[in-house]
Amino acid sequence: MARITASVYTSHVPAIGAALDLGKSHEPYWQKVFAGYEFSKQWMKDHKPDVIFLVFNDHATAFSLEMIPTFAIGTAASYAPADEGWGPRPVPGVQGHPALASHIAQSVIQDDFDLTIVNRMDVDHGLTVPLSLMCGAQDPKNGAWPCPVIPFAVNVVQYPVPSGRRCFALGQAIRRAVESFDEDLNVHIWGTGGMSHQLQGPRAGLINREWDNRFLDRLIDEPAELAQLPHIDYVRDAGSEGIELVMWLIARGAMADVATAHPGPKPQVAHRFYHVPASNTAVGHLILEN
Ligand code: DHB
Ligand code: FE
Repeated sequence: MARITASVYTSHVPAIGAALDLGKSHEPYWQKVFAGYEFSKQWMKDHKPDVIFLVFNDHATAFSLEMIPTFAIGTAASYAPADEGWGPRPVPGVQGHPALASHIAQSVIQDDFDLTIVNRMDVDHGLTVPLSLMCGAQDPKNGAWPCPVIPFAVNVVQYPVPSGRRCFALGQAIRRAVESFDEDLNVHIWGTGGMSHQLQGPRAGLINREWDNRFLDRLIDEPAELAQLPHIDYVRDAGSEGIELVMWLIARGAMADVATAHPGPKPQVAHRFYHVPASNTAVGHLILEN
């Protein structure tokens, strides 16, 4: 049986990818960000997953205003880094896991969640920056990410966006799906995006440290209650792009303590990090182990 052994949460700032790709990661500004991921890179080596289920948002790169899936699961064998306007990031392509992805699609859709099935998709900074942060810089030609990745894209760009409540319940359904896959696989689920930030309008540059840290506390200790937070609260308190944080609730909903059948103990906090600033964003990062 496949099982979810850990969840990882991290911001996905595109400038972090640019800092890595342009050799700026040793500059003092970026050192303070990357320092928070030194533990995580070692942790990834010590807890190497067989598959990463990576919840992220596409930033009008693979999808556009012409077609906006609320939840989209990648069932392809591979995904290319997207061109976001400056050429694709020089990172390895992403290998998928079609067998597990198709199984999760089958299970979750039959469990009443309407997913869009995506057989071709380029992946933008929302997916590649978390991989770079957690796995370190990789040689684009001879390097490879440590394991296959199932990309799961959530619309948090164009309203209406899904509620935190729905995201949390979806995470619970993803856990049920993984646990009914008949192969011994160690699966990590990642929730990415956030934390507080706003990229446009009169409030551009908004950061809310107190709110972010309370969100991290509640994500660990009372995720089901946190999932009730209406989206207007994210936008008011964490900025218009702070809404990306609903994706963290998908990963948290897949942990053992909130399982709908045979719940387990609370997860252990293996690592917690918070830093301001990185570009226009507060960077938050958690690793929870089942
Ligand atoms: C920034 C942050 C994001 O989440 C994003 O998608 C684009 C830009 C930023 O901080 O600049
Ligand atoms: Fe973003």
